[in-house]
Amino acid sequence: MGSVTFIAPPFDVARVIHIESSRCATLLSLAREVPWPAHKTCGQGLCGACAVKVVFRDRKRATARVILGADEKTLLYRAGKLTDAEYRAADIPAHPALWRLACQYVVTDEDIIVFA
Ligand code: FES
Repeated sequence: MGSVTFIAPPFDVARVIHIESSRCATLLSLAREVPWPAHKTCGQGLCGACAVKVVFRDRKRATARVILGADEKTLLYRAGKLTDAEYRAADIPAHPALWRLACQYVVTDEDIIVFA
């Protein structure tokens, strides 16, 4: 079992969702259960409005898990979430990007903290 802890400025406490290992869901769909601060989002990896920082509680999992797809990497870069160096390093497992698109990130059994 994993867990997703959502932290956003309007919350006075973190909101936590525990994930059963058999469940796969995007961060965006989980965020809607919390509830997460409302954003108008496309849900398809096109608008960039769902960009969040994702921190793994187990750093070793991050290096194995976080490889950005080409479209996600480009959108995060254009949105100013990735520097030139982070953009170039985003394909290297040893240098996982902090920023992700919540609509493209499928949660499985990891323990992560998500910052809006
Ligand atoms: S909701 Fe538009 S990019 Fe994620």
